Amino acid sequence: MQTQAAVPTLMRAVVLTGHGGIDRLVRRDDVPTPTPGPGEVLVRVGACGLNNTDINTRTGWYDRKVESSVTEELGLHGRDDDAASSWNKATVAFPRIQGAAVAGHVAAVGPRVAPERVGERVLVDPCVRDPRLPLRAQLVEYLGSERDGGFAEFVAVPATNAHRITTSLTDAELATFPCSYDTAEEMLVRADLREGETLLVTGAAGGVGTALIQLALVRGSRIVAVASESKRERLLALGAHLFVPRDSADLQGSVEALVGEQAVDVVADVVGGPLFGPILKVLRRGGRYTTSGAIGGPTTAMDLRDLIYKDLEMHGITNPTADTFGRLAELIEGGRLKPMLEASYPLAELSAAQEQLLKRTHVGKLVVVP
Ligand SMILES: NC(=O)c1ccc[n+]([C@@H]2O[C@H](COP(=O)([O-])OP(=O)(O)OC[C@H]3O[C@@H](n4cnc5c(N)ncnc54)[C@H](OP(=O)(O)O)[C@@H]3O)[C@@H](O)[C@H]2O)c1
Repeated sequence: MQTQAAVPTLMRAVVLTGHGGIDRLVRRDDVPTPTPGPGEVLVRVGACGLNNTDINTRTGWYDRKVESSVTEELGLHGRDDDAASSWNKATVAFPRIQGAAVAGHVAAVGPRVAPERVGERVLVDPCVRDPRLPLRAQLVEYLGSERDGGFAEFVAVPATNAHRITTSLTDAELATFPCSYDTAEEMLVRADLREGETLLVTGAAGGVGTALIQLALVRGSRIVAVASESKRERLLALGAHLFVPRDSADLQGSVEALVGEQAVDVVADVVGGPLFGPILKVLRRGGRYTTSGAIGGPTTAMDLRDLIYKDLEMHGITNPTADTFGRLAELIEGGRLKPMLEASYPLAELSAAQEQLLKRTHVGKLVVVP
């Protein structure tokens, strides 16, 4: 256990002041440091990963009235209507500190938590669950959405969410994993991806896409990556076996030319929109479709005959289980996953980091460091 510096009463944080453009993110150095409640720990944030949920929430994209993709324009300037919602259709309480993907050290503990935990190195599971609810509905608060997150020097989280972790990775590297990798692993668990099966991944260069590639490699699957042509070499180097440019005029034909007709066992999709129709067509009979994102457009037409007459399974994922996060921590500790740290920014430059995320030129993840 290492000795911890005293916890200051005020801290630096980037605070979201309301739905809208990037100007709604305000830097402050006078935010009261949270006090860990019963069963909670206070984590000194070493780094916090960026995720699209930060942008989706800020812009009100989760509001069902929004039908557009998450464009750079939307992410920078927000909408000029009253779109407002978090992922679970709830109202967001402002001011709110966002940031779902925290790596750091325990700085203090609340009542009913062993004081020996102070000094532990931790990776935080962003899903706060109520275990009394059905398994697929246990997520009640998401870090940085219904409770304050990690775009700050300190964050209070339930002690059970702060996983002790032993690794030579830096905090910035560790902060690339939560949110993307637990979601990606849950997608593969629910679709039951098996050794030797063919997986098609959309948005393959992004945070979730690169996680899906690495986690599918752990399972011994063959991977077809769909992304912008400029990212082909980096995705093949990461381990994808085949590559299809996402702007192919005939995406279905391009995939079938590589793997055969209706030969994909599982599609893991985070893009949706115009890709949704073609990727259902390449699935084999009895194939599985799993999705956790619709960055390319949330509403889309579907030929129900693809679902019915191929006996497809479909899985929507937003609620990774505690077991899934535990398995992710084991894979990290075992050195089985490569941190895809594209860039690290000071916390004060969170807006610049989000601007880079919105350009979608990255492969992997961006993080901020307080
Ligand atoms: N449900 C959950 O719990 C959960 C968790 C994590 C993420 N998500 C969601 O999953 C989606 C992907 O997240 P991520 O972190 O992987 O995002 P990311 O790192 O920003 O990557 C998104 C990728 O999608 C590709 N893309 C294809 N069509 C696009 C379009 N029309 N607009 C923007 N990008 C497009 C982009 O690259 P190319 O141009 O190379 O194709 C980009 O690499 C987001 O919608 C996010 O909110 C959901």
